Amino acid sequence: MKKVLIIADPGVDDSFAIMYALLHPEIEVVGIVCDYGNVSQKDAIRNTKLLLKIADQEDIPIILGADRPLTGEAPQYFYDIHGDYGLGGFVPDSPASIKVYPFTKMYELIDEHGKDLTVVNLSRLSTLALMYFHPESNIDQVDQVLIMGGAFHVPGNVTPLAEANIYGDPQAAKVVAKHGQNITFIPLNVSNRAIITNDDISHLTQNSISPYSSILEPIMSYYSKQYENLIPGINGAPLHDVTLFSYLLNQDRYLTVDRQVQVIVDGPSKGLTHADFRPVPKVIGKAPIHTIVVDFDPSFFVKDFIEIMS
Ligand code: BDR
Ligand code: CA
Repeated sequence: MKKVLIIADPGVDDSFAIMYALLHPEIEVVGIVCDYGNVSQKDAIRNTKLLLKIADQEDIPIILGADRPLTGEAPQYFYDIHGDYGLGGFVPDSPASIKVYPFTKMYELIDEHGKDLTVVNLSRLSTLALMYFHPESNIDQVDQVLIMGGAFHVPGNVTPLAEANIYGDPQAAKVVAKHGQNITFIPLNVSNRAIITNDDISHLTQNSISPYSSILEPIMSYYSKQYENLIPGINGAPLHDVTLFSYLLNQDRYLTVDRQVQVIVDGPSKGLTHADFRPVPKVIGKAPIHTIVVDFDPSFFVKDFIEIMS
């Protein structure tokens, strides 16, 4: 059983990732930290409550993460891609009355689960970066931290060079790259190819016995329509955030390299991530070496997603 603490901004692909984690028989979700990015923190909380309520798992603590970048600037949201409420075309009803815990609840959960815990970061890196600064921080006690973020020598999605989770708070990404231990980045190099088609979703709608089966289509169809405008002919959309859980459970299907990670924080390349992929990389200073996932088996990803969501 893998215990996970999720940091997320649901958002369509975050919502699918949360559903996948809650339905997976080998994953135990110990808490969900809501921050911002695709949507505001308020909407992220409402959507997380809804997902927990549908799965009848309202006992999982929801925790307040960061609501803006470290610089204090106003966040940029992406309702155009994720829909008016962040759930594609699905309109949520009034929020479930589930308690929301303060930031420090994360430290309690890390104390409780320590080395058994994986932190899965699906949003901007602001919350995670704050955890490295905080005097009570025990983030170094967890087994590993998985981050959906970066575009290593491939096009970005929010700018030609940058991926959204890094671009949204590059200072935070830099802190994490500089101070984080046992970090794995799962970048667009992989997640852009984690495409679930509309036919996959129709198949699930008709055959899934999960409590989510009736909301999959309205959530996905809006999101995939928006992706069709960005990548004509894609026939579906990448579920970036699901790749982290797929990786966690099936590491033999993913190819990784270990390198230092550099983040550009401003200028025209703001949010760019890069690493020295030469066979013998030049090591710069004392910055830690991180794992970067560079390739995977997309057909396995789709098959596994359909199986778990069924
Ligand atoms: C990442 O940014 C967010 O929009 C998605 O949910 C994902 O975490 C993809 O760049
Ligand atoms: Ca996300």
